[in-house]
Amino acid sequence: MKTVAILTGGGDCPGLNPAIYGATKYAIKNGIKVLGIIEGWKGMLERDFIVLNEDSISDIMGQGGTILGTSRTNPFSREGGAATVKDTFETLSINGLLTAGGDDTLGVSAKLSEMGLPIVGIPKTMDNDLLGTDFTFGFDSAATVAIDAVMRLRDTAKSHRRVMVLEVMGRHAGWVGLYAGLGGYADYTLIPERDLNWGELIEAVESAHKKRKHAIVVVSEGVKLSESNGTEFDEFGHENLAKRDVGQRVADTIAKKTGLVTRSAKLGHIERGGPPTLFDRILGLRSGVTAMRWLIEGKTGVMTAMQRNEIIEVPLSIVAQGNRNVGQDWVELLEVIE
Ligand code: F6P
Repeated sequence: MKTVAILTGGGDCPGLNPAIYGATKYAIKNGIKVLGIIEGWKGMLERDFIVLNEDSISDIMGQGGTILGTSRTNPFSREGGAATVKDTFETLSINGLLTAGGDDTLGVSAKLSEMGLPIVGIPKTMDNDLLGTDFTFGFDSAATVAIDAVMRLRDTAKSHRRVMVLEVMGRHAGWVGLYAGLGGYADYTLIPERDLNWGELIEAVESAHKKRKHAIVVVSEGVKLSESNGTEFDEFGHENLAKRDVGQRVADTIAKKTGLVTRSAKLGHIERGGPPTLFDRILGLRSGVTAMRWLIEGKTGVMTAMQRNEIIEVPLSIVAQGNRNVGQDWVELLEVIE
């Protein structure tokens, strides 16, 4: 093996740069050249890359985002896309590819590896919803920002005797909402895995406000309040959930039903930026190094899953089987603190 490539696809998140750092360091130590593919699968289609060396990665461990750039490009939704990716392997003499991504990027990786391309996946997503792995990097950093936001909103809610509603990201699963609600001891937390019960929510808000003259509600963007009214979809067919404004709509309903003064805040992409937490740095680093080692050893079609704090091999095909959602035991934990 002489040349390997690495790409980052889908939504960015803290931890990607530590993964690039680890993978590149390991390859260089083993005498292998590393190409950094620009903006995910788009770079594989357009043959856009840089050469990664000690200089280009020297200071990236503590940086958020990804130095390679990313996109939500799907080669399978473009005419001849998969064949172009295959050609890029040959043209650039790539002997193996590392793909850091969520279900979309890894889903594409699974299909391409079934077609014979040597690929090892690195799971990442702030949503923390990938099957086969206990945690993905990006999640700890995002949830830490979300808890900080809850505490800031609590200060202003207290001062104005208001109800504050915080909307956080989470496309299919409510992990960020759950951890923000638990860690920030919200009065009510609404996530996709919890049945929508307005009576229960209003009661929790009214009782908290009666006791402490303020209340905090956390809402995950993935919650369905009514039929989707989204208008924007990406190449993987995903709706732009931010446009549904669930936080504002929950705040409006609370104000209408309780007469309390209510405000909402949407955290959005603020959760995805900023430096990786210690947990995400170490997980990113371990994942990058392990993925590169496996690729050099000739492994393909697998991803670096984390189970019980070990990095283990899981088939890439697992991501096509669905999402890892919040279990009812977690919802019961929420009920204890509300
Ligand atoms: O990467 C997952 C995610 O952060 C979701 O939680 C969110 O719905 C989506 O990305 C937002 O995507 P974009 O950055 O394309 O607006």
